[in-house]
Amino acid sequence: MFVLQTLWVTASHSEPPAGSAFNEEVSKQAGIYQSRGEDRPEGYVIDRSLLSYTVFLSSAFNRSLANLGPNDRWLDIGAGEGRAVLDYCTSKYDAMLQGSERHGKKAKAIAISIEDRRTSHWHQTASKLESQQLQYFVGKRLREYSLEELGQFQVITDVLGGFSYTQYLSLFMEKALGFLELNGSFYTVLQDVHSENGANRPFYPDASFLTEIANADGSEVTICSWLKSISCVEVTCELKGESSPPIEMYRIRKVCNNVTVPGLVPLRFEAGTPPQRRFQVTPRTPASLSRTGTAR
Ligand SMILES: C[S@@+](CC[C@H](N)C(=O)[O-])C[C@H]1O[C@@H](n2cnc3c(N)ncnc32)[C@H](O)[C@@H]1O
Repeated sequence: MFVLQTLWVTASHSEPPAGSAFNEEVSKQAGIYQSRGEDRPEGYVIDRSLLSYTVFLSSAFNRSLANLGPNDRWLDIGAGEGRAVLDYCTSKYDAMLQGSERHGKKAKAIAISIEDRRTSHWHQTASKLESQQLQYFVGKRLREYSLEELGQFQVITDVLGGFSYTQYLSLFMEKALGFLELNGSFYTVLQDVHSENGANRPFYPDASFLTEIANADGSEVTICSWLKSISCVEVTCELKGESSPPIEMYRIRKVCNNVTVPGLVPLRFEAGTPPQRRFQVTPRTPASLSRTGTAR
């Protein structure tokens, strides 16, 4: 039974649409990750500061970060140059905290990125910090890391990183929640999606939303309601309509350990910054229903 469930879960998260068009888009996307200098598309922003993270993420992120102590850990998925974690480890963050009572030792900060975007500023700063205060892992997608390699974190962030770029959204969520400590929070965001109340339209005329999810019968599922269908998490979704394109900010708090993420298969993937994606919820099988039953 267990073996069958494992096989189903893996298949339900990972089967891409057949055909070379999908593979072509995936390789175009890989080209964007590796682009350098003038070849890097303007929309592929890799140097957002910690201050800019506080604008892109739910306001609860500031509090979560300020509450971290020296035994805690923060993971930034899809960190680009890793400027946000660098700011956190340096006096930039101390200046941001001015006026608050938190000035103690900081948490350990770990950045991951597919491609190595570290700058000379990164290397100079990291060399002056205590070992493991600041780390940068490169060369793999989130889904390729094990718990032994990364460990667990009280705070995980993703600002237009893997959550916006992956073609395996449900597997990505399953991994991210596995790396989250109990009561820890994952803060992330998506651009141009059908919001929780369903009232908005795609930002660009005649285009679809940037990330979409459909049921097996083709009816739409909002990203927020899909996230809320994950067991053992508390989710808040907040639309920032004034951004262009609008963004929806998510805080996903892990409240128990039996996390079950409803599977999604990619239906459409078009390379971009971020890529255009459409997923379909995989139908529930008797095996998945019994898993969900025990998890809730
Ligand atoms: C547009 S950059 C964003 C960088 C940074 N968060 C910022 O706001 O400046 C996208 C980053 O996500 C990373 N990325 C994309 N897919 C990923 C995945 N599945 N796992 C880990 N990192 C990923 C890329 O390698 C890159 O570092």
